[in-house]
Amino acid sequence: MSKLLLIDDEADVRYSLQRIFDSPEIEFASAASGEEGLKVIPKFKPDLVLMDVRMGGINGLETLRKIRATDPKLLVILMTAYGTTQMAIEAMKLGAYDYLLKPFDIPKLKEIIANALKAARDMQQVVSYEPLLQSEDYELGIIGRSGGMQQVFKLIGQVSATDATVLITGESGTGKELAARAIYHHSDRAQQPFLAINCAAIPEQLLESELFGHEKGAFTGAALQRIGKFEQCNKGTIFLDEIGDMTPATQTKILRVLQSGTFERVGGNQPIKVDVRVIAATNKPLEAAVAARQFREDLFYRLNVVRIHIPPLRDRRDDIPLLVNYFLEKIAREQSQNPKSIAAAAIKLLEKYHWPGNVRELENAIRRAGVMAKSGAILTGDLPPEISGSTASASIAPMPIAVSAVATTDVGVLARQLFQWARRDPKLKIIPAVERELVIQALKETNNNQVHAAKMLGITRATLRKRIDKFGILRELNVK
Ligand SMILES: Nc1ncnc2c1ncn2[C@@H]1O[C@H](COP(=O)(O)OP(=O)(O)OP(=O)(O)O)[C@@H](O)[C@H]1O
Ligand SMILES: [Mg+2]
Repeated sequence: MSKLLLIDDEADVRYSLQRIFDSPEIEFASAASGEEGLKVIPKFKPDLVLMDVRMGGINGLETLRKIRATDPKLLVILMTAYGTTQMAIEAMKLGAYDYLLKPFDIPKLKEIIANALKAARDMQQVVSYEPLLQSEDYELGIIGRSGGMQQVFKLIGQVSATDATVLITGESGTGKELAARAIYHHSDRAQQPFLAINCAAIPEQLLESELFGHEKGAFTGAALQRIGKFEQCNKGTIFLDEIGDMTPATQTKILRVLQSGTFERVGGNQPIKVDVRVIAATNKPLEAAVAARQFREDLFYRLNVVRIHIPPLRDRRDDIPLLVNYFLEKIAREQSQNPKSIAAAAIKLLEKYHWPGNVRELENAIRRAGVMAKSGAILTGDLPPEISGSTASASIAPMPIAVSAVATTDVGVLARQLFQWARRDPKLKIIPAVERELVIQALKETNNNQVHAAKMLGITRATLRKRIDKFGILRELNVK
């Protein structure tokens, strides 16, 4: 459960936001002034503060300054009417997480709050190598006793003590983000903010401004000055995820920040100095992008000084039983239930599978199997068909509920089942996940015959090819 503190001197606003946010997921508290807010914070220990800028007594800006002095990691979102945006911008320079213009658009407000709460969790939830599952403070763990993972831990330990830029590589789902957070938590900057930016999720033209900010009028649509993540995260750690996806202009700016700690906002000419540690990650071969001149060679070398490569799960199968136990405990904890056990035969199947989606896929498989399991134990029949079917022949493989729903032509039942899974795994994006599975299955069923597979899926061969590329499927199918 997350805690949200609202600081606003208007009773109406406090009342209406309480109605919107107070829920089983969010514990809501409010304060009527900056002074009161500062008193409430140490007691209530919020994950996020939502604060008005213009208030009687000490204003939002001053309150923010005081919060930052005692609690630099606490995320603060400012609320402001259009006329006072300059103050909100000042607040961003002080390290506010975001600001919102009044009157609010409720869905937008909810989205921003949800994102901020996630960022707060990422920052606060300690990631350790050997998690203490019994301990009261739940810690996320990077599990692995295999030689490959021991090497990763050693490197994490070594770089944590320094301010060096780190490049983390590895296939999707191998734990790159987890490793980045572990470095942060073990570094001297652990008491300062950590901000993660997924470069691939932000449209190319916007990324530069997201990272470095822009001046008013820098481009069409830049009606107000904006402060970027590097400025906001001063003294902290920035995690640049999917670093392969950046325009040349952004690459140039990143290089300069890494070399001299300075940059200019888009459309600005005043150099701004920051002290930010950069951790970058990618699941694409950056060397190939350099060769194709899509990625600056000098930036690549600058990033590659310390490289941590996380091996795919199929190359460290001895970690699978450990991971399975860890996920069973983790899931049980989330659901406040006793952990399920798992049959030895099921573990054997999990050890044999080739895990194209790596640890993420394993975690999802365990979650799904836990839902399917009718008793306290996960049996082979509870595993997803691609795993249980990898040794059993398709005809005797148990048919999961989802597939039998299709047999009764009730696609609605299937969809509801998928949503159930999605609710348990907030990271699961249903459509791409299903699309990817369908393409993989169709290729398997047709022995990699793309014409037949496309026909089976009811799409053109060109579309099939696009999906194969998009999801990197051929690589995965070849690695059995
Ligand atoms: N060694 C590990 N121990 C425990 N959990 C792990 C481990 N590796 C990955 N996970 C879990 O698997 C999931 C995926 O990990 P993460 O998001 O770090 O992968 P990623 O490499 O960043 O993937 P992508 O390239 O798709 O972004 C997360 O839920 C993470 O907690
Ligand atoms: Mg990632």
